[in-house]
Amino acid sequence: MLIARSVEECREARAQLVGTVGLVPTMGALHEGHRSLMRRALAECDHVLATIFVNPTQFAPGEDFAAYPRSEEADLAACEDEGVSLVFIPPVEEMYPEGASTTVSVGELSTILEGASRPGHFDGVATIVTKLFAVTTPTRGYFGQKDAQQLLVIRRLARDLLLGVEVVGCPIIREESGLAMSSRNAYLTDEERAQAAALSRGLRTAETGWLGGLRDAATLRQMVHDEIAAQPLARIDYVSLADEETLAECDGRVTRDALLSVAVRFGKARLIDNAVLRVPPTSR
Ligand code: PAF
Repeated sequence: MLIARSVEECREARAQLVGTVGLVPTMGALHEGHRSLMRRALAECDHVLATIFVNPTQFAPGEDFAAYPRSEEADLAACEDEGVSLVFIPPVEEMYPEGASTTVSVGELSTILEGASRPGHFDGVATIVTKLFAVTTPTRGYFGQKDAQQLLVIRRLARDLLLGVEVVGCPIIREESGLAMSSRNAYLTDEERAQAAALSRGLRTAETGWLGGLRDAATLRQMVHDEIAAQPLARIDYVSLADEETLAECDGRVTRDALLSVAVRFGKARLIDNAVLRVPPTSR
């Protein structure tokens, strides 16, 4: 496994990779979720290229940039273990050279839900992902469905900027309790972690209702809200049921595929999770 720490080294090493390349961009603190992306990339591409970069521009002021978990040695071992061919692990000044002033913004999709709670977050994500695509020129990029809005933003930028990279969304990986895996779970105390399982429980309850024919948007949102609100340590940021493509909030009877998503704070951690509610082809 090759390790590149500068843009130049990465470009040189990338040029040696023959065949298709699957890119797995990460901010490190790798867990089973990241590993599942690497495995999928390896199954579908000749090489996997992973990046490890805690991107300062996607953290809003007052967020956890400085405290974000960093574990380079363990991360490199995980990449090696998963058969990664090349890891790009640049310092900040490589990705944001002195005076860099160009940003990528995908517009309205960036300003709602996560974008409303975390101003500037998606511009930071869109900018760094565009740069990583430019440096690594992958065939495909692999991203987790846990960050559903991020996945939409990245699909949009790849399409709008004609980047020629296929964006692949991969399933959410969960702990046994149902808690979606996230590097930020490391912030949870045991008590918070136990209560945080309510996110997936709430989503599952609503999903079961949906599968049984329940279509009222407010009722579906309320089911998730009630399950989470019953946890004394939970501070709900939002429960959303929105059109899967535009993220416009659903109203009344839901007739199209929809994204049910939540953001909840537990102590120092802000957790997100979601479920896609699909309209069966027979009732379209
Ligand atoms: O999902 C993440 O870990 C980050 O947002 C990403 C895509 C690596 C960009 O920094």
